[in-house]
Amino acid sequence: MSQTTTVRRELYDIYESNIESARIQFEQKSNFEEILSLDIDPTVLELYLINFNSLGVAMTDSVEDWISRAGESCKKLGFTELGELLSTHAEQEAGHHLMMIQDTHTLVNNWNARRQPQLDAEWFLAQPISENVVLYRQLHEDVIASQTPFAQVAIEYEIEMLSVRYGSQLIQQCQKILGSQVHEGLSFMEEHVSVDVGHTQLNARLLKNFLQNNPEHLDAMVKIGRTALDAYAGFLNDCLTRAKEYAKTLG
Ligand SMILES: [Fe+2]
Ligand SMILES: [Fe+2]
Repeated sequence: MSQTTTVRRELYDIYESNIESARIQFEQKSNFEEILSLDIDPTVLELYLINFNSLGVAMTDSVEDWISRAGESCKKLGFTELGELLSTHAEQEAGHHLMMIQDTHTLVNNWNARRQPQLDAEWFLAQPISENVVLYRQLHEDVIASQTPFAQVAIEYEIEMLSVRYGSQLIQQCQKILGSQVHEGLSFMEEHVSVDVGHTQLNARLLKNFLQNNPEHLDAMVKIGRTALDAYAGFLNDCLTRAKEYAKTLG
């Protein structure tokens, strides 16, 4: 084994072990266990999905723009190769929020075909974004404007990995609790469970290579990865809180 390979592995391993506690905290803060519980109220789960997609539009509609601008900032600082790879990844994220808008409509139509009171998809799509969504959006702007724009890779790595780690479990849970027809409103989730496997492998490669050449930025990567996980967990928790609040109004 060459010395270079050893160094690369060590830095990536240090990243992995330093971020681990944030991944564990993510599970607690997002209340994911409650979502996966067999005791979950089906109405709350259905409203959770509607909120995940409608509130999620503001989490995804700028992803292409964020990654591409982070790539430009990297190029300006001389990280040309990483900047170009980020530009390529940006294109792969174009328009993903449109799936969330579509899924919001499909889930609401599905509800309206079965039960009362009737829901309004536009109401959910127009609801004010939550504080955690604001934080998540601001985090990207801060990273792009900072001297460490390459930390965008840590955001992508941690957030896209969530689809790989939890996506299938969540889809299975929805089908178990809500029935197989729910599948029609899960296009964003289903697409991401499959494509984010490749995106996560790409992110891992970018992170490893970057840390090998720039070990002094390890802490910045971990810090931004942690902040992204924290904000995303907050977003998921906001979806659950809003679902429960709405369910209460149904009596
Ligand atoms: Fe995406
Ligand atoms: Fe992706």
